[in-house]
Formats: sequence, C-alpha cells, structure tokens
Amino acid sequence: MKNEPINILLIEDSPLDAGLIMEMLHKVKKFSFNLKQVNQLSTGMACLAEEGFDLVLLDLLLPDSLGLDTFDKVFAQAPDLPIIILSIVEDERLSMKAVENGAQDYLFKGEMDGNLLVRSIGYAMMRKKAQKELEEALHEKEILLKEIHHRVKNNLQVVCSLLYLQESYFEDEKYKNFFEDTQSRIKSMALVHDKLSHSKSLSHLNFAEYIKDTAAALLPSYKAPDKIKLSMDVKDIELSIESAVPCGLILNELISNSLKHAFPGGEGGEIRLKFYRDAGQQIILLVSDNGVGFPKDLDFRKTISLGMKIVNLLVNQLSGTIALDRAEGTTFKISFPELLFQPKGTI
Ligand SMILES: Nc1ncnc2c1ncn2[C@@H]1O[C@H](COP(=O)(O)OP(=O)(O)OP(=O)(O)O)[C@@H](O)[C@H]1O
Ligand SMILES: [Mg+2]
Repeated sequence: MKNEPINILLIEDSPLDAGLIMEMLHKVKKFSFNLKQVNQLSTGMACLAEEGFDLVLLDLLLPDSLGLDTFDKVFAQAPDLPIIILSIVEDERLSMKAVENGAQDYLFKGEMDGNLLVRSIGYAMMRKKAQKELEEALHEKEILLKEIHHRVKNNLQVVCSLLYLQESYFEDEKYKNFFEDTQSRIKSMALVHDKLSHSKSLSHLNFAEYIKDTAAALLPSYKAPDKIKLSMDVKDIELSIESAVPCGLILNELISNSLKHAFPGGEGGEIRLKFYRDAGQQIILLVSDNGVGFPKDLDFRKTISLGMKIVNLLVNQLSGTIALDRAEGTTFKISFPELLFQPKGTI
C-alpha cells in the first residue's frame, strides 16, 4: 500500500453523513488521506476534471442526480478511479448492478462503520495498484513483441541481402532467378512481421494493406510494369500470424506467376486481386489474370516446379481449398476458415 496520502473525493450532500464519514476516516491510523467534499454531482464532476484523485466516495441521492445514474455518470468520466458507493438504500439488486457496472464497492450507510469503510478503501487501493502493475507488465510485453517482430523482419532482410550477394556469383540467368524467387518469398514473410510490428494488436494484421504492398512490390519484376493494370477489391480483414504467413506466401507465388507467365510477349494485361469474407465466413483470396491461361496439360496440383507445390502445401496448412478457373486467363480461388487453428505443419 502506498505511503503518500490518498486523495479522496467525497460527493455527499448530507452534512451529517459527510461529518460522520470524515470522523471515521480521521480515526484511521493505517493510511493518511486528503479529503475534499462536495455536495452536488456537477461540482464533483468539475473537481474530477480538474484535480487528481485516487478514489471517490459517492452518495447516490444528490440534489442534481438520483440513483445508479449518479454512479454511471461519475464512472463515465473517471473509469479508472475506484468508486465506492455509500447509499442509504439497502438493495441487493441495486448493489449487484452497481458492482456489475464497475463500482468498487457498495456500502449501506445504515451498517457502515469505520472498519468497513477503511477495509473497502484498502481493497480499492490494492486493486488499483495491482491493475497498474498489470498494465505496466502488459505494456512491456507489447513493446517486447513489437521489438521481436521488428528483429525477425530485420533478420529476414539480412538473409535476403546474403542471397542477393550470393546471386552475383552466378552468371546463368536460370540460377539468378532461383535466388530472386527465394528472396521474394523471404520478403513476403518479412512483410508480415513488419506489418505486425506496426499493428495495434501485435498478433493480427490488416491483410488488405499487405496485399496492396505485395502487389506494388512485385509489379516492377515484370518487364513492362506500366502495361499491367492492377485492379484490387480487398476488404479490411485482420489475419493472425498463423494465417497471414501462408496466405502471404500464396499471394506472392500467384502474383509472381501472373507476372512471369500470363503475358509472355511483354504485351501486359490485367491482374485482379480480391479478398473478402464469404457468406459462410470463409476467407476468400482470388488472384486472376487475363493472360494466356494456365497450361491445359498441366495439373496444378502435381507440378514438379516449386511455386505451385508451395501454394498447394500452404493451402493445406490453412485447412483451405484451391480451385482453378481457366474460363478467361487464369483465376485461382483460395478459401480458408478464419478460425484460430493449430497449423498442420510449417514449411
Ligand atoms: N498465371 C499463369 N498463366 C499462365 N501460366 C501459368 C500461370 N501460373 C502458372 N503457370 C504455368 O504453370 C507452371 C507452374 O508454375 P509454378 O509457379 O509452379 O512454377 P514456375 O513459376 O515456373 O517456377 P517457380 O517454381 O519459381 O514458381 C509455370 O511454369 C507456368 O507454365
Ligand atoms: Mg511460380
């Protein structure tokens, strides 16, 4: 318990009750306090707005406010302050409701004595201290988590730089491409951690923003980026890290494929991205292009190439499904549940 005096605001219009309460408090040896008494709710509210208090003792029946409404108004103004209600009404239902609404305690004036009041104030101060410590610990954890996401992103960027340096030792375009593809995959994971380090919750990120950034980052890899029309219809949906990493990698593979394979002559075309929640609460990611179309003789579920293999593996990791529509160009539709799930395995 803190040693400095506890600053108490007493909102009580009855001079008799106020005098009694002050007398009770003056007898207390356990802690010292500064007490300010006002006899109207409006004056009390003004004091709360201007001065710092540790606790409020509140009578519910005041000249300018009656009943639980009085408490609700004070609580709305000072939700972090412990408020102990001192009431002449002995009503179980009312006291339950008051505590439910956030009151620290509800004391019936008829049975109140110094010990009861002091004990209630003591609990309130202890609770306030514990809450403050908890909030500080949580804040520290949040900072730590932010820092971890930031460091993971930085480390992934270092891996990318190493691959970039290694790439320069190869002359052959084929091998250079391998390195570039791997860098692109690592970057897509780094972007998840980057977004998480800036997100409010630190565990979920706005995937719409992620999609926009990924598309913008990949577009320059096409030989004539200004010939690609990118259209996006993406809804603001938050994904957890467990969904965001696989979903981000899938997006990366499918956009890369459209840029690499759909418009082979450099003629350009349109790439459309959609991201939404369907009526059945499944998350849908659609990546489509109006290019030459996915090869008819190729089963996208059984390619020997790495890109589609990764996509299929990750769809499975998301407990999702994938469908290919060749009606116009290439459209891949990925559906997956938004549930919190244990990943089936990671790559
Ligand atoms: N949008 C598309 N339009 C036309 N063909 C496509 C499209 N996407 C994929 N393909 C074809 O499917 C093949 C398999 O794709 P996949 O991503 O598995 O391999 P890749 O892109 O050739 O190489 P990587 O393993 O680096 O991704 C591609 O080689 C290409 O022929
Ligand atoms: Mg590919």
